[in-house]
Amino acid sequence: MYDVYKTAGDTSWFVKDRFGMFIHWGLYALPARHEWVRNIEKINNEDYQKYFDHFDPDLYNPELWADLAWNAGMKYFVITTKHHEGFCLWDSKWTDYKVTNTPYGKDVLTPMVNAFRGHGMKVGFYHSLIDWHHEDFTIDNIHPLRDLPKEEVMKLNAKRDMAKYREYLHNQVKELLTGFGKIDIMWFDFSYPDGDKKLYPYFEGKGHKDWGSEKLYKMIREYQPDVILDDRLDLDGSWDIKTPEQYQPEEWVRYKGQRVVWEACQTFSGSWGYHRDESSWKSSKQLITMLIDTVSKGGNLLLNVGPTGRGEFDYRAVDRLKAIGDWMRYNNQSIYGCTQAPEEFKTPNGNIFTYNPEKKRLYLHLVNYPLIGAVRISGCPEKIEYAQFMHDHSEVLINKQAFFGAGSDEKDATDTFLSVPIVKPNVEVPVVEIFLKD
Ligand code: GLC
Repeated sequence: MYDVYKTAGDTSWFVKDRFGMFIHWGLYALPARHEWVRNIEKINNEDYQKYFDHFDPDLYNPELWADLAWNAGMKYFVITTKHHEGFCLWDSKWTDYKVTNTPYGKDVLTPMVNAFRGHGMKVGFYHSLIDWHHEDFTIDNIHPLRDLPKEEVMKLNAKRDMAKYREYLHNQVKELLTGFGKIDIMWFDFSYPDGDKKLYPYFEGKGHKDWGSEKLYKMIREYQPDVILDDRLDLDGSWDIKTPEQYQPEEWVRYKGQRVVWEACQTFSGSWGYHRDESSWKSSKQLITMLIDTVSKGGNLLLNVGPTGRGEFDYRAVDRLKAIGDWMRYNNQSIYGCTQAPEEFKTPNGNIFTYNPEKKRLYLHLVNYPLIGAVRISGCPEKIEYAQFMHDHSEVLINKQAFFGAGSDEKDATDTFLSVPIVKPNVEVPVVEIFLKD
């Protein structure tokens, strides 16, 4: 239906599935103060070691995780195989800084991939380009050691060899691309080629040269040719999806003026990793509306959970996943296989359309439930054949003439009014399924 910027990866399933789970899990679950705790508190390797020595998620059960994701209506997941802290969730042969060497002593990645894949979900790996633990990763403007005396930093960096780190990075990516079956999404994070010349004028940033992005890209396409790649390798032409983060784009994301495949990644709260004391948790309604809003602009939503040091999802995340799942149970047809509605259909007051181009079905999401017992739809009233609520398939009557209380200006002649009950149905966001005439 829309002309979308073409790329190498297979996004055909992605633009139909629409909804995925991001999982940020690592040693940072133990300090439980944000996944950037090493940067924020400038913690060196020695002082961070205590979290490695105490990592023992005894309640970890990836089947439960996959159940929660699947029942929330999520169709794919993306797990942090390694975050900026450098800790690896699988038994990598290239490092000792891995979960199999912690008190837990077992690979957590393989059972996770098996559990989610076993639920019919697509598999995505997030892999940090950044590594604050690796002895050859040079100190820079975001490194935990950035504020050591300049002379000391320069001495330390003189002993670090980014060529060796690049080799390590490529070796681990190859392990991930060849050791876990078909990988559907590869999510690298992140490049900062400009550094921070204001605060740290003597540090260079890090971009495609530091990662060897060109060589990395060739390897990725060699081992997983259809994989969907995000846009953070600092390598134009390598990406399949644009990845707006922690905000909702106001319209369909474009590149050089053309619509692209895009995915908003969002957290439930203010942290990607488990953050015990952080309280800015979005409401279930906000999260459901976020999903609707994303699809209405042709995008996907990757919603993040940060499991605890016991290996469980936070009770607040479980609560919201259940509420989203309750909504999706009735309304997922307005999400899966849907995209932005044809321009001609308009509705006021912040209510949101999505559209299934294969079924030619319009979905009206009553995010701001109307106070007048009617919803105005402008555009092409003659195209509307029938309407019903998704949650109970009860008919929603269509009124062609101006509706009482809806004003009586000349616009009414071209508008349609759907009669809805004054009392909002018992659904977080009621959805009207609108059948259009062929
Ligand atoms: C930002 C954060 C990082 C997180 C990522 C998710 O890059 O710094 O911690 O993993 O967003 O997109």
